[in-house]
Amino acid sequence: MTAEIIALFAGLGVIALIFVFTLANSSPPTPTGPRVMRAVFRLLPRRLPEGAIVELGSGWGGLAIRLAESYPNHDVEGLEVSPLPWLVARLRTLGGSRNVRFRYGDFMRRDLSGAALVVCYLAGPQMRKLAPKLAAEMRPGTLVLSHTFQLPGWRPADTVIADDIYQSPVYLYEVPDQTPDQASGAVAVSSQDATGAGSDGDKASNTRA
Ligand SMILES: C[S@@+](CC[C@H](N)C(=O)[O-])C[C@H]1O[C@@H](n2cnc3c(N)ncnc32)[C@H](O)[C@@H]1O
Repeated sequence: MTAEIIALFAGLGVIALIFVFTLANSSPPTPTGPRVMRAVFRLLPRRLPEGAIVELGSGWGGLAIRLAESYPNHDVEGLEVSPLPWLVARLRTLGGSRNVRFRYGDFMRRDLSGAALVVCYLAGPQMRKLAPKLAAEMRPGTLVLSHTFQLPGWRPADTVIADDIYQSPVYLYEVPDQTPDQASGAVAVSSQDATGAGSDGDKASNTRA
């Protein structure tokens, strides 16, 4: 009986922990499903320029681990602020996937200037904060992949619709040339049509199956 009560409280504690961090970050640790994962890798190029692959909000680690397998010559860094998913991701790679690391912390504090690719699956509020940070820090032309939610004001270079039940859109962006206004977050993208992308969460505008 005591064991059941301990297990019940442990389970409730885990749920409470996930819930608290979900509220704090407006983003639950929902993992990228297998069908969306396939669409992600259909959209990504085989080769990337030098630099790290950074996943912003790496959750339980599944997507970062797949990225590390697909790009063995790149370091993959997963950044996660929710302790339980972060711990699970760390444990998944204890055996030694040599090119993936999971770091605990807020990705808004990570300088992204050296990244070769940024990947994310985040909700609207984070995408709004992220757009000016990416434009200010990253080299123009660097790839950013996001699924389900768009970067507001950015027009994707390519889009795929996954064959999951939500028909989730997967967006591939190139960091635009920035303007001072854009770097401060006041204005969206200068070299792209800021009105053409739709709002975050919109479905794809240019699609290939
Ligand atoms: C929808 S989940 C995606 C998980 C993983 N990327 C995947 O696709 O399987 C979003 C994750 O981002 C994390 N997150 C949200 N804001 C964050 C921040 N500022 N810094 C680090 N992680 C964050 C959340 O805790 C959550 O685990």
